[in-house]
Amino acid sequence: MMGNQVFHCIAVLAGLRPAATQLSVPETDLLRELSSMSETVTEIGVFEGLTSRRMMEKMPESGALYCIDPFIPGRLGIAYGYWITWSQTRRARRPDIKLHVIRKFSYDSVMDVQQEMDLIFIDADHSYKSVKRDWDEWSPKVKVGGRLALHDSQPMPGRCPETSGPVRLVRELGPTPSGFELQETRDTITVYRRVS
Ligand SMILES: C[S@@+](CC[C@H](N)C(=O)[O-])C[C@H]1O[C@@H](n2cnc3c(N)ncnc32)[C@H](O)[C@@H]1O
Repeated sequence: MMGNQVFHCIAVLAGLRPAATQLSVPETDLLRELSSMSETVTEIGVFEGLTSRRMMEKMPESGALYCIDPFIPGRLGIAYGYWITWSQTRRARRPDIKLHVIRKFSYDSVMDVQQEMDLIFIDADHSYKSVKRDWDEWSPKVKVGGRLALHDSQPMPGRCPETSGPVRLVRELGPTPSGFELQETRDTITVYRRVS
């Protein structure tokens, strides 16, 4: 397993295999569409940075991207996800985008992001308690007219169980949580738009 991780990391850094992600193609396409109209973007739960890269590629000129993940090191003390994310964001070839990689848990980094966001994508700890806390602490940072997207929040056989914390959260939020309205769903992603 450890050898596999090392091999995977080297192969991705060398450009011999793609970084890993759990997002489907329609989900990635949705985030790219939203990013194309978002100067300020935050991804909470980055993993290997493939989605960060895909969003960065589409962002308007001179935007800012915040990538938040503790990137917990593996058994050799190496944070493979951090280094793969580093390589992915460089492959986006967007030196005009101000990149902030924050190696912290979401709940410890709320104060590190002072800008208002056009787009926040939450895909971190999927327990109900954590995703509810992420919604409570991060949704106020979304600009009026901006969007907040939650991964694994629509049940889908074989991909997203009914018991997923974000599914429960979205059921509780309903179509019009305070200040937001439901914009769309695609595969397991739910997108809310801030209206006030
Ligand atoms: C499902 S993966 C993210 C996948 C990524 N968004 C993508 O599209 O490929 C979940 C990530 O969340 C991170 N994570 C877990 N709890 C977190 C938290 N409270 N704040 C930020 N990141 C967290 C984990 O380290 C892991 O890399």
